[in-house]
Amino acid sequence: MVASAYTLSAKVLICGANGQVGHALAELLEKAPGIEAVPMSRRQLDITSTDAVYKQLEKHLPDYVINCAGFNRVDAAERQPDQAMAVNRDGPALLAAACAALSIPLIHLSSDYVFDGHYASGYSEDDEPAPLGVFGRSKWEGEEQIRQHQPQHLILRVSWIFSARGHNYLLRILEQARQQAVIDAADDRRGCPTSADDVARVLLAMLRQLTCGIDVWGTYHYCGAEITTRYGFSEAILAAVRQYEELKVESLRAVATADMHPLVERPASSVLKCRKLLSTFGIRQRPWRSELQRVIPDIYGE
Ligand SMILES: NC(=O)c1ccc[n+]([C@@H]2O[C@H](COP(=O)([O-])OP(=O)(O)OC[C@H]3O[C@@H](n4cnc5c(N)ncnc54)[C@H](OP(=O)(O)O)[C@@H]3O)[C@@H](O)[C@H]2O)c1
Repeated sequence: MVASAYTLSAKVLICGANGQVGHALAELLEKAPGIEAVPMSRRQLDITSTDAVYKQLEKHLPDYVINCAGFNRVDAAERQPDQAMAVNRDGPALLAAACAALSIPLIHLSSDYVFDGHYASGYSEDDEPAPLGVFGRSKWEGEEQIRQHQPQHLILRVSWIFSARGHNYLLRILEQARQQAVIDAADDRRGCPTSADDVARVLLAMLRQLTCGIDVWGTYHYCGAEITTRYGFSEAILAAVRQYEELKVESLRAVATADMHPLVERPASSVLKCRKLLSTFGIRQRPWRSELQRVIPDIYGE
């Protein structure tokens, strides 16, 4: 068979492969021609363990490592700062140092929470990070560790991830909609929901271009197309889910984020500008509404 210009030949090790993005990425890469995916759960590769990191990287000698592992519980990070820092800062530092030692490029996922959320119009890669709490700080410091240890890196900041598995806003709203007549949803937080499958698509597209040997290392933003609020996202979720089951919920109540999450401030704007990803890689944003229509049937096993 004649290889197309986009045929990729690479072994890709995925950390955190049981998470939303890690799982979606493993599924996608396993179907991608020319790619050998090596998905690693936390049990197989704890990114905070020096022994485990070197053992697995030296055993598999991948062409790329993609780190999808993370401590993502924002309130829990305030109560367990050491654990959050260990997974989100020290783990990436360790991975970056090991990757540099073995000449393996590292691709890492970060978050809109590195910003304070004051720019309603959104954040570009040049904007100054100013995290509001432990979680955001741990993600920012993890990024900095990677920049320091492994110049051959891609950091992809993403936001508001949803999928049919794991812990996410979509599944939380669905759970509440089955049990409560009224659901609270913040109408003062803006962002762009992003499906885990869509992030996996973007990571694969980036990987393909890395193999062309062009110098594209650095930090990029990606999120689904169309800005909404938590309230707007909740409305869309309920409308989509009602096609599949009868729900107890009768109405959504618009509330302030601060009333829902008193422990730690959330960014009012999580909007990420994605122009750099488009101009460098030619990757366009996909509308989150169409992704939602695709993900909901997965919840019902269709
Ligand atoms: N979720 C969002 O809305 C969101 C938004 C912005 C950025 N991000 C970033 O995107 C990335 C992927 O997010 P996600 O939603 O897919 O995360 P997720 O569903 O919470 O999955 C994270 C995975 O990391 C694993 N993990 C935790 N500690 C680990 C360790 N020490 N070593 C190895 N694996 C470990 C977890 O294992 P267990 O299953 O055993 O717990 C879990 O499978 C993360 O970097 C996250 O910060 C997420």
